[in-house]
Amino acid sequence: MAYHVNFKGEKVIPVEESQTLLHASLAAGIPHYHACGGKGQCTTCRVLVLQGPEKLTPATIYEQAIKRVKKFPDNVRLACQSYVRGEGIEIHRLIRDETDRYIFIDSNEVDTKTVMGEQRKLALFFIDIRNFTPFIEASLPFDVIHIMRRIFALFQNAITQYNGEIIDTAGDGLYAVFGLGSKIKQAAEAAVLAGLKIMEDIKIFNNTYMRPYFNHTFEVGIGVHVGKVIVGNVGIGLSNNLTVMGYPVNIAARLQAATKELNNSFVISALAYRLLKNPPYAVGCSYLNLKGVSTAYEVKLIGNPYELKQSMPAPSIT
Ligand code: FES
Repeated sequence: MAYHVNFKGEKVIPVEESQTLLHASLAAGIPHYHACGGKGQCTTCRVLVLQGPEKLTPATIYEQAIKRVKKFPDNVRLACQSYVRGEGIEIHRLIRDETDRYIFIDSNEVDTKTVMGEQRKLALFFIDIRNFTPFIEASLPFDVIHIMRRIFALFQNAITQYNGEIIDTAGDGLYAVFGLGSKIKQAAEAAVLAGLKIMEDIKIFNNTYMRPYFNHTFEVGIGVHVGKVIVGNVGIGLSNNLTVMGYPVNIAARLQAATKELNNSFVISALAYRLLKNPPYAVGCSYLNLKGVSTAYEVKLIGNPYELKQSMPAPSIT
């Protein structure tokens, strides 16, 4: 008996019950990679199952073993280990040329799930150092970088303590996510706890280091939002960092920027705030018209008003 399988973007092929998906696709003239000859060892024959995963036979012991090592998501199957048992299957070959092969096989792939991209609900965390420009203008380059390192180390400690992941840094700010390994409620909680810890740590750093040695203090602006985003890995040849994209990311960035106009160091969307089991006291609530966003966003203010009382030494030019 033969079924039909749609190789998306290529062709619909007949597959006999006795044929593996790989044998059938090769017989139909599809240039399906199969470096190990169909022994379930190389994973070059892997396919993404878009429809009808239940119509494929369960993974063989070889496939199960390699899926465990490679951390394949459930919808990735090895064509050489899969037989078809019904109509309605649609698949997408993952390795179609040498560049695909490099990305998936040769570039030390660790986690196919993130390389491929998936939609996740995450807590999005933006933080920025306030009053850094006057410090740059009045300080030696060595001091600027040294202090920046100290502050970023402090950010990183708090973020990793609460299982967050730093995605990107830009100038005197950074962007992190929480929830890659947890549910969204815990993710929101973790993002808030990390932010509150940073605010406390900055206070201590100001009192014990910045004030005595530089007569300067720093404040931060933090924005937190939650939402569905695309998580993937696009760092071909440059870096292999995780990338997180989507509309909620823009909103979180805007909330961080709004800390200035709202004069509060920690702005969280009401959506994220409502997820918190033990929400911190919110000194205020506001509706923000964010640039590029059609509806006003309800936000909660859970930080402190800015002090903005810095005194900087005059730049010393020798
Ligand atoms: S051809 Fe090597 S794992 Fe399928």
